[in-house]
Amino acid sequence: MDISCIEHIGIAVNSISESLPYYEKILGLKCYNIEEVADQKVKTAFFQIGQTKIELLEPTSEDSTIAKFIEKRGEGVHHIAFAVADVAGALAEAESKGVRLIDKAPRKGAEGLNIAFLHPKSTGSVLTELCCK
Ligand code: CO
Repeated sequence: MDISCIEHIGIAVNSISESLPYYEKILGLKCYNIEEVADQKVKTAFFQIGQTKIELLEPTSEDSTIAKFIEKRGEGVHHIAFAVADVAGALAEAESKGVRLIDKAPRKGAEGLNIAFLHPKSTGSVLTELCCK
């Protein structure tokens, strides 16, 4: 699998507006985009740090996977996303090596990226996203 960088780190938060002051006023980062991803029932906020982003994920519904994550584990790091040249190819390679997949095929994520998740059961409990532009 040809990973070029950590594209983003996803962090589950109860409220983007309540979380923003830490990232902007303490860390001095600038939120450059807030976007709702309706089919994932989340609102996302992005900060760019070098070639990597922080993606805050706020649930927009109680049955959002982010709402369930926060209910179980509290706010915090939710997933790590690696940039790959070809998500479908990387998925096929992972599956051929016995990795359990959450997504059998790439789908559209925030910022128009093609994304797919590997199952934490196969990744040392780190929810892992593969993505590309
Ligand atoms: Co992500």
